[in-house]
Amino acid sequence: MKKLNVGIVGLGWPGQRHAEGILASNTGALYACADTSEQRRADFAKQFAPQKIFETQEEMLADPALDAVVTCLPNFLHFPSVLAALEAGKNVFCEKPPTLNAAEMRVLQEESAKRGLVYFFGRQARFSGAMLAAKQLVADGRLGAAYFGKTVFIRSRGIPHGIGGWFTDKSRSGGGALIDLGVHAIDSIWFLMGAPRPISVSAQVFQNFKSHVNLPIFDVDDGAYGMIRFENGAVVQFEVSWAANLTDDLPASNAYGRELINTTLYGPRATIRLNPLALFEDQNGQPVKVEISPELLPKGAANPFALQMQNFLDAIAGKAEPINSAQQAVYLMEMLDAIYTSSASGREVPLATA
Ligand SMILES: NC(=O)c1ccc[n+]([C@@H]2O[C@H](COP(=O)([O-])OP(=O)(O)OC[C@H]3O[C@@H](n4cnc5c(N)ncnc54)[C@H](O)[C@@H]3O)[C@@H](O)[C@H]2O)c1
Repeated sequence: MKKLNVGIVGLGWPGQRHAEGILASNTGALYACADTSEQRRADFAKQFAPQKIFETQEEMLADPALDAVVTCLPNFLHFPSVLAALEAGKNVFCEKPPTLNAAEMRVLQEESAKRGLVYFFGRQARFSGAMLAAKQLVADGRLGAAYFGKTVFIRSRGIPHGIGGWFTDKSRSGGGALIDLGVHAIDSIWFLMGAPRPISVSAQVFQNFKSHVNLPIFDVDDGAYGMIRFENGAVVQFEVSWAANLTDDLPASNAYGRELINTTLYGPRATIRLNPLALFEDQNGQPVKVEISPELLPKGAANPFALQMQNFLDAIAGKAEPINSAQQAVYLMEMLDAIYTSSASGREVPLATA
């Protein structure tokens, strides 16, 4: 059977991980790549040997043999890149955050639906072994009706730059720690809960650590904290930072000072924690730690990028529903928008979808 020809635009760290994902799949071919940086193109070509190499996405889209595009460009280019790919009749996978805001994402949702093309957003942690095993336990009813989730993505010294310092420039990033790391943290708990409809947000974002870096523009948040309410009555508390004076009970990281990425979902029957994966179950009135047997971890879970790419390719082939769907990207962006609105107003704000 003919493989699907995939092209990647933006050849930094995520572009390279998706190349590995495509190469690991037996239904996708690493057909093309594009990047305006000559160095990035040369390094990528040497490592992954795509069939075609372009400088711009426009040139890549003009190739009729291309079936799908993977966009790993800076955040402000997600919307124009995805829109151009859809208009050229290509299926599209876009790195996180889906867009700069929900309004942009609604346009992409409509456009992909109208054209019958697959839209998919990047969230590899949905395909990690811990997440897949935890989802199974939740689906089996082991927690009961989950009422509270806590999700954390915090670094003590981890302000990113990106080529040209775009991460800290709101016009090019859409926001700071929240839109960069918060999208991971919030999506992890939300996905684990089964993506219930969010109804309101109360949150505050902060900028306290600008002096840690020497960047031309720094007009974004470096920390975000708050609570989200869901239609099913559950609430989620989130904690996100690029930089903070974290306490010494948090693990040291090679690159980011201290770092903790964790998600915990509480139910009346049990609580599940992703990192390290464990279930804490009520047994005769006592919370008991239950070991998760390795058999529960799905096959292939060692490479979440490959599993994610396979779901995208299967969705194009009509063999699966896209797990990281356009509708969920809209909800996610609505939550992020509402967090910024709540912070600016100092009030709890309802979501557009409520
Ligand atoms: N899923 C993850 O865990 C993860 C991790 C890191 C980054 N990301 C996301 O991936 C995206 C890229 O992040 P990054 O860290 O690789 O940024 P980066 O700045 O290091 O790389 C962006 C790449 O895009 C290229 N580029 C920029 N404008 C271009 C254009 N108009 N046409 C073609 N190429 C162009 C640059 O030359 C560069 O190689 C961001 O949206 C980020 O949020 C996701």
